[in-house]
Amino acid sequence: MSSPSTPPQVSRPDEFVIVLDFGAQYSQLIARRIRECKVYCELLPCDTPVEHLAALRPSGIVFSGGPASVYEEGAPQCDPRIFALGVPILGICYGMQLMARALGGQVVSGEKREYGRTELHVLDGSDLFEGLNPQLICWMSHGDIVTVAPPGFAATASTHNSPVAAMSDIKRRLFGVQFHPEVVHTPWGIEILRNFLYRHCGCTGKWTMANFVRMATDEIRNMVGDAHVVCGLSGGVDSAVAGALVHRAIGDQLTCIFVDHGLLRKEEGQQVERAFRDYLKANFIHVKAEERFLARLAGVTEPEQKRKIIGNEFVEVFTEEASRIGNVTFLAQGTLYPDIVESGSSFNGGKSAVIKSHHNVGGLPETMNLKLLEPLRSLFKDEVRRLGEELGLPDSIVWRMPFPGPGLAIRIIGEVNKERLEILREADHVIVDEIKKAGLYRKLWQAFAVLPVIRSVGVMGDQRTYAYPIVLRAVTSEDAMTADWARLPWEVLEKISNRLINEVQGVNRLVYDVTSKPPGTIEWE
Ligand code: XMP
Repeated sequence: MSSPSTPPQVSRPDEFVIVLDFGAQYSQLIARRIRECKVYCELLPCDTPVEHLAALRPSGIVFSGGPASVYEEGAPQCDPRIFALGVPILGICYGMQLMARALGGQVVSGEKREYGRTELHVLDGSDLFEGLNPQLICWMSHGDIVTVAPPGFAATASTHNSPVAAMSDIKRRLFGVQFHPEVVHTPWGIEILRNFLYRHCGCTGKWTMANFVRMATDEIRNMVGDAHVVCGLSGGVDSAVAGALVHRAIGDQLTCIFVDHGLLRKEEGQQVERAFRDYLKANFIHVKAEERFLARLAGVTEPEQKRKIIGNEFVEVFTEEASRIGNVTFLAQGTLYPDIVESGSSFNGGKSAVIKSHHNVGGLPETMNLKLLEPLRSLFKDEVRRLGEELGLPDSIVWRMPFPGPGLAIRIIGEVNKERLEILREADHVIVDEIKKAGLYRKLWQAFAVLPVIRSVGVMGDQRTYAYPIVLRAVTSEDAMTADWARLPWEVLEKISNRLINEVQGVNRLVYDVTSKPPGTIEWE
């Protein structure tokens, strides 16, 4: 993971909005929604100095919500000079309360917390609410309320409990909404954001993937010059899109290295090879290292030990291959925006517990002394998929479900060996095939098989069987931080069960994992 102080490698387009993060759980979502309005947007800490903000020349600024009360000691603040910048500002929830208090309005602790679906009455439909009904449903989540708008502001909407549920000072282009326009529970929320961006910030919606490709390829060429770049492909969408983008920029100056550790899903290696070698015509090294990895994993059952072994071996194989190429200066990798934000967030204090040591191609540069090229560092996952499509990568790669770096090894609960991998690979293939046939593939975050190394008794054609169960894990999620077990139709479960037991040698039972995250994690190890 790169340090938050690493300078951004993708220049900002001229239409650009800043979201100041006051610690809300929805801050990233605000940024995503703004980008859905085709306006480029980045999150910055709320205490970013005003000189820094001014130098970025944003078209607009959004204050996120946050869990604090404006009256609390140590409540997050912004630089008060921000209101004099002349840049349009939209405060959301805490952001609005902060704005109201800073500019002379009145904020009080609400007698009743307003939480959840709330009816909103629009008092003035001419600016943020332009084109919307006078009665709207919105999503509230706050304790404090604004009772008196600051001088120069008018209340533009109210609710039963909040006399000033939205406010605006059109002259100074300062706006506030007490509710959350970014969440799906505020059905017209995106229109409100669009009104702010298009009517008040002067944005026209220039942020498209085609523009991004142009901007990012220029950037990559400038940065790389005539140096050589390696890119580690994992089989997943992020590294594949990063590789394809760098290839679009510098062609043969890039070599892609695909370390096939033998822990991949069925036909995954061939799909990556086809996309890069045959379709993109990129320099592509397919390192078939299954034996090496399996030898290291023999006798190992402890999950963290498995992860460490695989991570270390990966670095070793990759380094060997890269040093064979010689004269390499850069390592390209598919770090995404949420990774950067999470590592740089001023609110988590870096104190979250390590639940699992994630392994992916990050972590390589420390041992390799290469400069980092992270062309996706400003993108969200859904944007990466759209970029992959723009670059012509096949659906099988672009729409692939997330897959952990240590692969099937952490889905075999027990020792990993070739026979078990084969069983798990086939079982996984059957599950994904049936999920696709049922039209559910893109609706689920992940659906996969887990193989616990236990055996149970069954009966098939008058014969006793003594074989492995397969656990089916299928979850819905927005970002994998939390997940819900998927309510798969009975018929789909039945088909998967029948096919697994009939088609996959060594399996005689299917069980379904109905645990959400938390308390479960998505992967079993
Ligand atoms: P958990 O199991 O922690 O997983 O709920 C959350 C998401 O991350 C994926 N995952 C990994 N991805 N390297 C990765 O690149 C890893 O070591 C790893 N472990 C879990 C998991 O598939 C899920 O989408």
